[in-house]
Order: sequence, then C-alpha cells, then structure tokens
Amino acid sequence: MPRDPLRTKLCDMLGIEYPIIAFTHCKDVAVAVINAGAFAVLGEAMHTPDEIAADIRWIRERIDGKPYGIDLVLPASSPLEGGLEDLESKIPASHRDFAAGIAKRHDVPEPKGPVALHRWGGLNQQMARAQLDVVLDERVPVFTSGLGNPAFILEAAHARGIKVFGLIGKKRQAEREIEAGVDAIIAQGYDAAGHTGTIGTFSIVPEVAAIAGNTPVIAGGGVTTGRHLAAALCLGASGVWTGTLWLASRESDEDMIIKEKLLAASAEDTTHSRSVSGMTMRTLKCPWTEEWAKPDAPRPLSAPYQMLLSARYTQAANDHRREDLMYEAAGQGVGFVTSMKPARQIVFDMVEEALGAFEERVGDDA
Ligand SMILES: Cc1cc2nc3c(=O)[nH]c(=O)nc-3n(C[C@H](O)[C@H](O)[C@H](O)COP(=O)(O)O)c2cc1C
Repeated sequence: MPRDPLRTKLCDMLGIEYPIIAFTHCKDVAVAVINAGAFAVLGEAMHTPDEIAADIRWIRERIDGKPYGIDLVLPASSPLEGGLEDLESKIPASHRDFAAGIAKRHDVPEPKGPVALHRWGGLNQQMARAQLDVVLDERVPVFTSGLGNPAFILEAAHARGIKVFGLIGKKRQAEREIEAGVDAIIAQGYDAAGHTGTIGTFSIVPEVAAIAGNTPVIAGGGVTTGRHLAAALCLGASGVWTGTLWLASRESDEDMIIKEKLLAASAEDTTHSRSVSGMTMRTLKCPWTEEWAKPDAPRPLSAPYQMLLSARYTQAANDHRREDLMYEAAGQGVGFVTSMKPARQIVFDMVEEALGAFEERVGDDA
C-alpha cells in the first residue's frame, strides 16, 4: 500500500499512532490505551469537581506527557439548579407506582447506600458548569461533550489550548457544531452504547464527512473490530470512538457479572430505550427496560427525572450483585467482544485486523 492507511489527520492533530479513541470510565483502561499509542477519554460526568481534578492528576502521572481527554455531559434539558430532593418531588405518582410495581414483581431489594446520582453533572446546569471549570483550569488536552452542544465553551477552551470535540447523531447538529468551530466531530450512530439517536452509523458517518471540510470526523457506534475501523476510514472518518469495546477488558473495573454478560451478549441482547435516563439510550436488556417497553407502561419521563426513577433499581441491582437485574450500556457491536483481553492487546489486535482488511481489499502492491 502506498502509505499507512491508519495514519490520519486525527493522528496528526493529537500526536497519536493509531486513530482509535476509547471512551471509558476506568482510569486504568485509559492509561493502558494511551500508552499503547491510541487515545482515551475519561468519562467524568458522575464525579465531583475535586474527584475530576484528582483523576486528571492520576492519569497525567502515568502517561509521560501524552495527550488525553475528559468527557462531560452538558444536556440543554437539565434544570438550571436544584438538588436531588427538589427534582424527586416532581416525579408523578403514576411513575413512582409503576417503578414500585417493577420492584415488587422482580423482588428488587433496597440499595445498600444512598443513590450515587447526586454527583451527576446532568442533574443541573450549575453542577455541569462546576465540572467544566475543572477541565478549563486543568487545561486538559481534549474536552469532549458526550451530550449537548459545546459551542458556548469553545472560546474559553481554545484560549487555554484545549481542543473540543462534539458528539452528534444528526447532520444538522454536526452543521451547527462545525460552524461553531469544534476541533473534531464525533458522528455517532444508532448502534452505539449509551445515549444515541436513531440514524445508523453507516449513514451518519458519510453524511457528516461530506460536510465537515477540514474538521476531522470520528465514527462512533458499534465499532468493536479492526474491520469496523477500516470501514469507518473508508466512510470518510479519520478515526473511531469506542465504548463497549473496553468494558470487558482486563483493566476494566466493571463487575465480573457484567463482564460475563457482555462476553455472552449479541446485538439482539441490547435495547434502545428511554427508560433509563429519559433520553434514548442503548443498554443490555434487563427487567427494567423490558417492563417499560410493555404497552401498558407509562411514557418515560424526560431527563433527568427518569434517571432519578431508574437509579434506585440500578444501584440495588449492583449493590446486591443480582445477576438477573444487572445491566450496562452496550452497543450493537457487543457480539464481537468475546474475550477478556488487556486493553493494549485490544488496540494492537484492532490495528492488525484493520491493516489486514485494507491489504485484503487493495493488495500489497496497489
Ligand atoms: C458503560 C458505558 C457508559 C457510558 N457513559 C457515557 C458517559 O458518561 N458520557 C458519555 O458521553 N458517553 C457515555 N457512553 C457512550 C460512549 O461515550 C460512546 O459514545 C459509545 O460507547 C460508543 O458506542 P459503542 O459502545 O458501540 O462503541 C457510555 C458508554 C458505555 C459503554
């Protein structure tokens, strides 16, 4: 091949070897991926400003000056302020009753401790802003906004040398963010784990690539193999954004029950539902998502209210390690996650498979 097909403008922009971005909540995964030559973004939406600052220091000490990213959520729909109790008082009795019915039918115990949601930046805009201030103060190399348009932070970020990536699921969101001046745009499809829209990865990526000009496009949603990486580059992306891929890695701090569920799961074991957070979100199916999908279930509330409702179920399931109740966000590519490998091995295997896919199609002498 004339040149290394994996050497993209995203690699040049970030100074990385491989155009693979890991989204993870686990610091050990992030460090392993970065030290293997790829890039990692640590999800910090569930952390206090002090915890975010401590995590940033922890990572920096282990990556020898290499770049890293921090992800927060900035949902426009969250209230301006208000604590958990204020928000909880607004949940209608019909929805509380339905949640109580699920608890009864599935013998869901009480959580062992207070529900950890009070730290979630999506609860109100004041909390999201305090988290964001840490990212600015710490001058992290890359800030990504997994939810919400980051345009309002661009000037302050760029003034501190921070690159900002926006994540979108629709072409018009991409147009707005590219126009505002984001440094890269993550085009994420329906296949993805977590909050995601309804357009498939194979459609949204080339659609956004066609209008992105020089702004690198990063493909997200269902990317779990080297073939996906090769395909994403052919669709016009300069890299891939991956989440599910790392959940069952050796370094991942997911519960072993979840890791085993993920290793056994296929695309059909996932569901796209508003029942967890109020926004469309892909997770493994579980009694909570299945109950809300029934025809007689109430319509899920908007964010963050539905999240308050689901949080007790989720925490109880995890606190008591109830295999029948536990679930995790997972994308449709989960079927290709079949063994528990070290994160650096996942990077190398993906690179090797992608190069193999290019060679197979183009031939060595092309
Ligand atoms: C367990 C898990 C938790 C996630 N939490 C967040 C989050 O807190 N913030 C966010 O922006 N994205 C979150 N995501 C979504 C990822 O950033 C990413 O968009 C998605 O995983 C890509 O799709 P894939 O899993 O098919 O690779 C999460 C994904 C997973 C698997």
